[in-house]
Amino acid sequence: MSIAPHGGELKNCFIEAGDLESFKRHAASLPVIQIDAYTAFDVDAIAKGIFSPLEGFLGKEDTLSVLESMCLKTGLPWTIPVLFSVDTAVADTLELGQEVALKDDYNQIIAVMNIAEKFQLDKKYLAEKVYRTTETAHPGVAYTFSTGDVYLAGQLKVAHSRPVDHQEYNLSPLETRAAFKERGWKRIVAFQTRNPIHRAHEYLTKCALEMCDGLLIHPLMGTTKSDDIPGDIRMKCYEVLLDKYYPKEHVMLSIMPVNMRYAGPREAVMHAIIRKNYGCTHFIVGRDHAGVGNYYGSYDAHYIFDEIDPAALGITPLFFEHAFFSKRTNDMATKKTCPGSSEEHVFLSGTKVRELLANGEAPPVEFTRPEVAQILIEWATGK
Ligand code: ADX
Repeated sequence: MSIAPHGGELKNCFIEAGDLESFKRHAASLPVIQIDAYTAFDVDAIAKGIFSPLEGFLGKEDTLSVLESMCLKTGLPWTIPVLFSVDTAVADTLELGQEVALKDDYNQIIAVMNIAEKFQLDKKYLAEKVYRTTETAHPGVAYTFSTGDVYLAGQLKVAHSRPVDHQEYNLSPLETRAAFKERGWKRIVAFQTRNPIHRAHEYLTKCALEMCDGLLIHPLMGTTKSDDIPGDIRMKCYEVLLDKYYPKEHVMLSIMPVNMRYAGPREAVMHAIIRKNYGCTHFIVGRDHAGVGNYYGSYDAHYIFDEIDPAALGITPLFFEHAFFSKRTNDMATKKTCPGSSEEHVFLSGTKVRELLANGEAPPVEFTRPEVAQILIEWATGK
């Protein structure tokens, strides 16, 4: 028996293939709202059941419940409201019960939304709750403040899956579930990442795999901030690494087309819930998961799980402390597993790594596999 999706049922908001033509004709007759890539990714995630049990953007009551109590009105854990807002001038032209067509950043009508609610929120409160800050230097806060002031909620009917690069890796929750079944995997651990996989990441994934049947390497490929490493470069890194350093029969690479929110602890829980929908039973949460800058403590993303009912969450988090290469044990480790002072640890900051790469220098093998370093140097130096 595979793990149940969050809320018990995997949602599917796509139009049946046979109804697509009439759907398109109908959508063409509706008022159009232009949406950005971020919203289009959210629509895609709702449509595929990645965000089950959501079937549309959240309404006000659900939003306030999520902000205040980290659960939907039903009591089901949910930590980050999935919202859609428009400018007041646009909202003023829309009636409740009306349908609108959503046109994405590729100029395609991708969905029809039935407007069930129009509402406003205190954005500072929203930011404080989700991101634990109202500073616009935080990318999630900046995005929240940059969008319109009126939120729209309502069910979505979606025409098609959002096209992404590396489509061959873009398995939906239904498809990963089928793939796990085919492989006979029962205990499956998911690894979220928005970075190339370095030795510390590799260590986490392999420790976790020791306890499971399968490992899903599940890089996030929705929108990310401009100084994160681009998805196509990361994909090259994952491919060389998997090819040489991971056993094929226990590891699967698939992408997660979901936006990065940089919400640290709350996003760690959301990432776990999403992976439950993809059919995973365990989820890796390491140091400063989904963090940015110094907004979160190293282990805040561990502590937040104490506030969530494990039975309602359903997926088991696997927590890891800060991992590094230990010169004393000549091995990857954490403070839990090796003695010695931090002088004996090989750890490089993100800034230091970027500096090395830009100079055409590979970070030490204790930090990154040479094949990955090579791809990153070529990218960083444009050679
Ligand atoms: S994240 O935004 O997706 O969390 P990243 O890709 O760097 O960023 O991290 C992926 C996962 O590895 C997260 O669970 C993170 O906490 C964990 N992680 C990253 N680096 C380390 C490290 N040195 N030690 C322990 N965990 C780490």
